[in-house]
Amino acid sequence: MKPSAVSADNLPQAPYYLPQGREVELFRHAHHNQLPVLLKGPTGCGKTRFIEHMAAVLDRPLYTVACHDDLSASDLVGRHLIGDGATYWSDGPLTRAVREGGICYLDEVVEARKDTTVVLHPLSDDRRMLPIERTGETLQAPPEFMLVVSYNPGYQNLLKGMKTSTRQRFVGLRFDFPDPERERAIVAAESGLDDERVGPLVELARDLRNLKDHDLEEAPSTRLVVHAAVLVRDGFRPAEAARSALVEPLTDDEETAMALMEVVDAVLGQ
Ligand SMILES: Nc1ncnc2c1ncn2[C@@H]1O[C@H](COP(=O)(O)OP(=O)(O)OP(=O)(O)O)[C@@H](O)[C@H]1O
Ligand SMILES: [Mg+2]
Repeated sequence: MKPSAVSADNLPQAPYYLPQGREVELFRHAHHNQLPVLLKGPTGCGKTRFIEHMAAVLDRPLYTVACHDDLSASDLVGRHLIGDGATYWSDGPLTRAVREGGICYLDEVVEARKDTTVVLHPLSDDRRMLPIERTGETLQAPPEFMLVVSYNPGYQNLLKGMKTSTRQRFVGLRFDFPDPERERAIVAAESGLDDERVGPLVELARDLRNLKDHDLEEAPSTRLVVHAAVLVRDGFRPAEAARSALVEPLTDDEETAMALMEVVDAVLGQ
């Protein structure tokens, strides 16, 4: 990951992030007004990079939690551990973020167990409280603390949808694949590949995204275009790089892969 040459605050440390719209301003105002934020969008479209960038720009520690179907409230809040014959309390990432006035980012929050709602609800409305049941403590979140959650609407099923009462606590930002000009800039910056060779890879990704009749689970992301560009930069033929970086990660079905390779060859040449 490259440091951004010109980040909003001239913080050389902020990871590079090219805005797609007004998300940087919206996020700043949400933070300033102590509003929690929900990021939604397909895989590989810059949600994680955005939050890393914003944490650096706002100069807040970032605690990222990858949610999974076994993730419980105590994984977030903390638990008693045993060491040297005694038990002691260990803060979870959410508690640490609250204590330090940091940003807690719950990635794929819809995966988490439902009991997490109990801690997320009082923290994400105007109470901004974190009750720690096991120790009897209740923390009041400082103004700098921010809760951010993300999910990919495409992966949702009926059971896993987010409760309305949870969704309605958040300011929502929708992410999508960038327009071609921005995507070229991102891929060039991330891979170091020159503009002339980035152009056809971006064009290819757009053509693949437009293929509606193949049952691809999800469209190729900017992340995959960056991977292809890195391979081309290292000397691989564009079509070869595209097969490994763009086609194989998208499908296991050989026929579909062959159909995708036809598009690759048409855009990039054999
Ligand atoms: N706007 C952007 N600015 C800079 N880099 C970007 C941007 N969008 C995408 N990227 C590039 O795409 C890669 C993937 O982005 P990121 O990891 O943020 O996706 P994500 O939305 O968090 O995906 P997932 O849902 O799979 O976690 C980044 O590592 C970066 O190289
Ligand atoms: Mg991510």
